[in-house]
Amino acid sequence: MARVRNWWNWNHSKSVTLIWLICAIIFYSVFRLLLRNSYHTTRSIYSVATDFPNSNSERRLRLYDNLERDLEENGALFLKQGETSQSLSLSDLFTVKDGTVTPVLQAANPPVRANVLYLSTEHSVPISKAVKGIFLPYFDRAIWFQNSSMYHFSMFHASHHITPVPASEVEIETEANDVKAVAEVLCPLKIVLDRVVLTSTGVLLGCWQVLSGPDPITVRAKLKTALPRAPEKQLYDAAIFHTSFARLLGHPTTLPAEVDKTSEIHFFHQLVARLNNQIHGIQATVSELWYVEEYDLLALALNGRMQIRKYQLSCSKA
Ligand SMILES: *[C@@H]1O[C@H](CO)[C@@H](O)[C@H](O)[C@H]1NC(C)=O
Repeated sequence: MARVRNWWNWNHSKSVTLIWLICAIIFYSVFRLLLRNSYHTTRSIYSVATDFPNSNSERRLRLYDNLERDLEENGALFLKQGETSQSLSLSDLFTVKDGTVTPVLQAANPPVRANVLYLSTEHSVPISKAVKGIFLPYFDRAIWFQNSSMYHFSMFHASHHITPVPASEVEIETEANDVKAVAEVLCPLKIVLDRVVLTSTGVLLGCWQVLSGPDPITVRAKLKTALPRAPEKQLYDAAIFHTSFARLLGHPTTLPAEVDKTSEIHFFHQLVARLNNQIHGIQATVSELWYVEEYDLLALALNGRMQIRKYQLSCSKA
């Protein structure tokens, strides 16, 4: 009898230990999982760029995180009176003529002189198709799509409308030649689309990371050295590397039945999420630097009048 009891006790305490052990393992696993999740949710769920080793990429990620939060924090300003990143009011930039959205072009005096990296149509056309496929059904006549022949990364302005730097034709030729010299020593950039964000001003932006080739910070530094008369204050953070895909101009013209005005922002997030699922992570090669004289404000964005000088990034030793 005593032996049976002892045996039972021993077995019983073994079971208790086993149960405790299992509990501890489960607890530990769940704890680890929660830790990992909380780490991941601090990063965008779309970010493909979680392991970039250098600080420029980190700086860009933080910029993109901020851009992503902008709509949440500031609301959809474009439903009221959006401004572009260049402080121009969106509602002043477009009108609806014969049922189609038409840009209102304003002459730039003196012309804006912009240096941009160009995204070729091999990459821009599929992106543009995806953007239209998702947004056009809901934003007929309330959206402007960037011309897919003109997808570009704004890098450095020799003159912009906030700080105009007038230049003679000779000076413009000199600037263009100096930019050409920069292009010659730069190598092409291999890049990846980190994510798409919609800003509070209604601009749908592609935010990119660099896989190889010169960092945008380096490109801007070289342009700044080559163009010493350029405005000290440039329009963008030196680390940013973005292309504009479209501009939302107002409320959706068609809403799915389950969406009402109070859940519009949520709906915008859903559309952006859908677009991200389709195109984030796509890779591209950038191999042209353009020196652009814009005779109209935002000519590159609005199909305005401009003169473009195109230079290949030819990777030659300086
Ligand atoms: C898009 O840009 C190309 C190249 O500048 C131009 O030929 C074309 O007319 C533009 N498309 C529109 C709709 O303006």
